[in-house]
Amino acid sequence: MMDRVRVAVIGAGGLANREHYPALASFDDVDLVGACDLDEERVNATADRFGIAARFTDYRTMIEQTAPNAVYVVLRPHHAHDPAVFCLRTNLHVFIEKPPGVTAFQTRSLARLAEKNACLTMVGLNRRYSPLLNAAREIVLSRGPMIQCVAAQYMHSPALYYEGAVDILHCHGIHYLDTLRWLGGDVTDLASDVKRIGGAHENCWTALMQHEGGCTGVLVANWQAGGSRPYTFEMHGPGVSVYTHLSGDSQVWIEGERDPDALSQFPVTSPEQPQAYFGFREENRRFIDCIRTGEQPETSLTEAARSMALADRIYASRF
Ligand SMILES: NC(=O)c1ccc[n+]([C@@H]2O[C@H](COP(=O)([O-])OP(=O)(O)OC[C@H]3O[C@@H](n4cnc5c(N)ncnc54)[C@H](O)[C@@H]3O)[C@@H](O)[C@H]2O)c1
Repeated sequence: MMDRVRVAVIGAGGLANREHYPALASFDDVDLVGACDLDEERVNATADRFGIAARFTDYRTMIEQTAPNAVYVVLRPHHAHDPAVFCLRTNLHVFIEKPPGVTAFQTRSLARLAEKNACLTMVGLNRRYSPLLNAAREIVLSRGPMIQCVAAQYMHSPALYYEGAVDILHCHGIHYLDTLRWLGGDVTDLASDVKRIGGAHENCWTALMQHEGGCTGVLVANWQAGGSRPYTFEMHGPGVSVYTHLSGDSQVWIEGERDPDALSQFPVTSPEQPQAYFGFREENRRFIDCIRTGEQPETSLTEAARSMALADRIYASRF
């Protein structure tokens, strides 16, 4: 087992500064050996904040000079492919943010390269590591199989991601599709409705899925609805229903009655930690543990490629 993990990070943008650098810097068994961004000012500010001595504007130079065990690729999806290929070709373990490609094909290509070079990989599908969603899933599964799961997001956001570099379903909906696959298993059959409401691009997706093992999955993602009520997941089993909201507003119902014991498993989110339920810290911890023990993470590139392929199927099956 590896005692300490040498980590280098490509990208010093918004998410990396908000989640990945703080988590990694807080782990006793991680050495942050280098930080890189094309923007020198940004990488210097980040490196100062997290006490990283070696900072770079070229990721190849960083990897050559710092000899990391693992590299984080925290870039916009259309910028991430070449750096990820470079790391995987160099036999490095890779954490890459979602979506791990702008298409399922690109993700599969990365997955094949990782498999060929025996790299451990994690895609930032953090919902699978959310303590809230894990607790909810356990409550349901402790009473029997998952019968239905529902992932819903209603918000108003007319803009495309990154001026259209990637569609919203592959870029963001991947979180819901991956969570539904985690809850219900792989999808055997599906029917879907995909709409363009008030614009030129698809912004409303509804899918009914049959998961292997018999669970029914429902996705409703509407980016032309009112306001913003994101990240709602429902899980239903025999005599149990859990309604979760990643802000912490969650309920457990057992055989028609609210169960106070089950509810107490969901502590109130503090205003200082609005992201506490999302699982970012836990996914970082899990990635480092996997590197230390040589275990393949649950949200590897291979697994993420299946969730990306499910997004393809939703478009292909539209009415
Ligand atoms: N898991 C989640 O819930 C979640 C949430 C937010 C964002 N994300 C994902 O995180 C990724 C990054 O998002 P962000 O908002 O931090 O983006 P950002 O634009 O704030 O940061 C990206 C950074 O990458 C740098 N960069 C670009 N090309 C580079 C290169 N070749 N070498 C070094 N640096 C380079 C840019 O200068 C920029 O600082 C996106 O893929 C996004 O989808 C995931």
